[in-house]
Amino acid sequence: MRRPTVVGNWKMNASFAQTTELLAGLSEGWSGVHKAEVAVCPPYPYLAKTAELLEQSNIVFGSQDVSQHESGAYTGQVSADMLLDLGCKYAIVGHSERREYQGESSELVAEKFEAAINKGLTPILCVGETQAERESELTFDVVGQQLRAVIDRCGLEGVAKGVVAYEPVWAIGTGLSATPEMAQDVHAYIREVLGPEGEQTAILYGGSVKPDTAAALFAQQDIDGALVGGASLKVEDFLAICRAAD
Ligand code: PGA
Repeated sequence: MRRPTVVGNWKMNASFAQTTELLAGLSEGWSGVHKAEVAVCPPYPYLAKTAELLEQSNIVFGSQDVSQHESGAYTGQVSADMLLDLGCKYAIVGHSERREYQGESSELVAEKFEAAINKGLTPILCVGETQAERESELTFDVVGQQLRAVIDRCGLEGVAKGVVAYEPVWAIGTGLSATPEMAQDVHAYIREVLGPEGEQTAILYGGSVKPDTAAALFAQQDIDGALVGGASLKVEDFLAICRAAD
């Protein structure tokens, strides 16, 4: 059985004070034993505080990126070892905002994925098509290529050590969520590409997940949880999504 997983991607949002408040609200609202795993990915500078505030809770945390390098003269980058030192479980890699604004190629994303699994940090690999690609019926090609770059580098066994997040670019931050059926189609395709090795790999959906859309998405066979942006910045909304996955 795959464990339902809900991950909050805070992006470059929340001040230090808001981070403290959010984490306090989440740990209080998510106490006790749960089937679903809940994780948050705050900005780098708040990870140490996050570790401290979540120490007594059952919420885990991760980073929004990781360097492909182990160590060295890479100004501004953060290595997998450093993130593990802080207590991170996850690292998001290949988010569409990094692919677009930082020009990250699928090959670079694959290097980051590899750097994470080599150290035992769990990468959350984001894949997804743009609106134009969907309209040109290229969804499976694009998602397939993004996955294959990582499979070529890490093998199917390597990919199975991570989590995959299907995030259609047109649904991110737009309020336009894929329907459960649209998402399920792509999730089933991803599951097929991952092969038998990927049977236990969590495949999350991301893109405007809200409390009122979460349950229908999670009811789909191959949707194991969500990567949540906007709604993860509101304690009640995020907790409602977590409950829907539980
Ligand atoms: P959103 O972001 O929930 O605000 O659409 C999701 C993401 O970018 O991971």
